Amino acid sequence: MSVFQTKSIDELVAGSGAEGSRLPRVLGAFDVTMIGIGAIIGAGIFAMIGAAALGGSSGHPAGPSLIVSFAITAVACGFTALCYAELSAMVPISGSAYTYAYATMGELVAWIIGWDLIIEYAIGNVAVAISWSGYLNDLLNSSFGLSIPLWLRLDYRTFVQKGFDLASVPNLGGMPLVFNLPAVLIVLALTALLVRGVRESSTFNNFMVCVKLLVLALFVGIGLYYSKAENWTPFAPGGWKGIQAGAATIFFAYIGFDAVSTVAEETRDPKRDMPIGIIGSLVICTVVYILVTIALTGMMPFMELKDKIAEPLIAGLDHNHAPGWTIAVVALGSVIAHTAVLFVFQMGQPRILFSMSRDGLLPPYFARVHGRFRTPHVSTIWTGIFVAGLAALCNIDEMANLCNIGTLFAFVLVCAGVIVLRVKDPHRVRPFRAPGGYATPVLGIVLCLFLMFGLDRTTWFRFFGWLALGLAIYYAYGRKNSRLGSAGGASQGPVSASGAPAGKMI
Ligand code: ALA
Repeated sequence: MSVFQTKSIDELVAGSGAEGSRLPRVLGAFDVTMIGIGAIIGAGIFAMIGAAALGGSSGHPAGPSLIVSFAITAVACGFTALCYAELSAMVPISGSAYTYAYATMGELVAWIIGWDLIIEYAIGNVAVAISWSGYLNDLLNSSFGLSIPLWLRLDYRTFVQKGFDLASVPNLGGMPLVFNLPAVLIVLALTALLVRGVRESSTFNNFMVCVKLLVLALFVGIGLYYSKAENWTPFAPGGWKGIQAGAATIFFAYIGFDAVSTVAEETRDPKRDMPIGIIGSLVICTVVYILVTIALTGMMPFMELKDKIAEPLIAGLDHNHAPGWTIAVVALGSVIAHTAVLFVFQMGQPRILFSMSRDGLLPPYFARVHGRFRTPHVSTIWTGIFVAGLAALCNIDEMANLCNIGTLFAFVLVCAGVIVLRVKDPHRVRPFRAPGGYATPVLGIVLCLFLMFGLDRTTWFRFFGWLALGLAIYYAYGRKNSRLGSAGGASQGPVSASGAPAGKMI
């Protein structure tokens, strides 16, 4: 069987409803848009916008022109979002870009993309969990004057890189005892929640999204009130290079709109709800980001952000001596926003593993559905262990960069998938068609590659290392056990943990 063998879309849709592995359709357009916003607004706007304005290691600060960077990245994501919307309306089942690749470019590419999406979802969440932990400490500090001991909130990698003094932390025979405990605890708590079921979780997500939008609205109001025209001069201190570097960094802030597609199989009317959810959440977040950036760069000289680089919004409030309660509210909003992102990604990752397992590319163990809760509990729990373990030990910038490159690569493949499917299957009904003919996917590919090439060499090496490991696993396991390769095709479903049909997953 060729590694370029594809599944037909009909087979994929039929296979998704197989006994024992069906997910219930409980979500509407509003819920999926909220899932998108829940996944998008998080560490990017609350924590990384400062580093982006200062230009990071590029030496070219974007300053107020970060507004333009946000607009450029939104356009790159917009082309990809249109491609996601076209594919997710045509292939309305769980699994996201992985599933589309299976339908368009064959099993090997599908495997590569599924493996790559682990970088987006799981590694992205490692970065968000680390940032969550930092904000939690700030919240405790600003509200109660409490501080988590350094050794319980610092990761090992940062400890080594920044040359912390061994005497400042406990050690075991010279080996520093440092790990990020809050990051571990939040991931494990969300994992437990997700094992219990998606309906409670979706309500929980809607609540968190409302809170973070209100908090950002408050920040924008305060920021505009304090804004001064001189803070916008010069507007683009680093010229185009600054705008470009800013765009590459804040790409992280946009990651998440594609997470909407992972719940296609749990959506009542995916043909209509998927495009609304994906494009709607991207547009809403773009408007919010640009307003926050206008407010932040207007309320303080951007260079002063370097003093409080991990909490840029708090820095803006501090600079203007805003009332203390506003700082506490923004810190709390940030913790909640991070939690919402963590939640959606922790929910999306197991569903991709679930789909890959259902297709035989991973052991059937990962497609087990909980007997009582009807959730993919095995893949949910393993995702939790993986993310929590890395969050305890890893460095946020390295994880964010790896997440950026992996996500951009997935976006390139999704755009390519649209082109392939239009050539291969031009007459198939497209409930949603990305406008602009081939220009949309082609521009999506070009802009994503442009952002990828803006990332550093070490990130590329890590990315290739991950892909090489994935290929080794595919040839050792997936190629031999794939359902497409065996006589069963896609129509067999795994058996749930209880041996009973999975039925509803709520
Ligand atoms: N876009 C998400 C965030 O900024 C990943 O946290």
